[in-house]
Amino acid sequence: MIQAKHKLIIALDVPDRQSVRQYVTMLAPYAGMFKVGMELYYSQGPGIIEEIKSLGGKIFLDLKLHDIPRTVGRAVSVLAALGVDMLNVHASGGLAMLQAAVEAARSAQQPPLMIAVTALTSLDERVWRQELGFGCSIEEKVRDWALLAKQAGLQGVVASAREIEIIKTHCGREFQVVTPGIRPSGSEPGDQKRVLTPGAAIAAGADYLVVGRPILQAPDPVAAARQILEEIEPVSTDLNVGSCLVLDT
Ligand code: C5P
Repeated sequence: MIQAKHKLIIALDVPDRQSVRQYVTMLAPYAGMFKVGMELYYSQGPGIIEEIKSLGGKIFLDLKLHDIPRTVGRAVSVLAALGVDMLNVHASGGLAMLQAAVEAARSAQQPPLMIAVTALTSLDERVWRQELGFGCSIEEKVRDWALLAKQAGLQGVVASAREIEIIKTHCGREFQVVTPGIRPSGSEPGDQKRVLTPGAAIAAGADYLVVGRPILQAPDPVAAARQILEEIEPVSTDLNVGSCLVLDT
């Protein structure tokens, strides 16, 4: 399950260090990376990154930066210096902001993979058009944001698995797609709206799956992670999907 493991990013959406230690120790053999999001980073500070790394975990720092170009560039410099493996910014910040992020990342000692967030997987077409006022479909906007991110030099995007095809068609197979909104059949969607099963997401061409609650809230998180790997391994092998950038040093 080596190939499959590198595709699984487990979202550590927990508020305290003890839970982090427990989950990372338990799940490190099954995860290519652990995702540190706002809750964990803001409650524990940068020290949590070193702690996860010391337990053998690679890190996707999911802070979804969105500000003026100079501010984002400086923030990326600070965060990249922590030695994270993947970092993200919002594509909707525009080309100059994305370029500032890329430039800062490239200047880091170990440049992280830079990924742009497109449309959150918790949004549906009604909210998209009525509340947010977009005049095009989610898919069209995701395509445009992915192209913008590519133009700026980012290596990929975060998007729903439902948008993988249009992204890969326009940005190329090597352009990485990180997909949250993953729900094994029978699991609760929660606040996620644009969901797909792990196997379907990999079959659609996802390079990385981000999975939180279906693993963390399972009665047996290790069994839940193993089940996802077992589901995606044959699909990855069948497709001979090797595009996922293996981050082993
Ligand atoms: O628990 P669940 O599997 O829904 O967790 C998904 C994770 O991916 C959460 O940490 C969420 O913040 C993150 N995420 C997302 N949609 C995006 C970007 C990140 O759900 N577009």
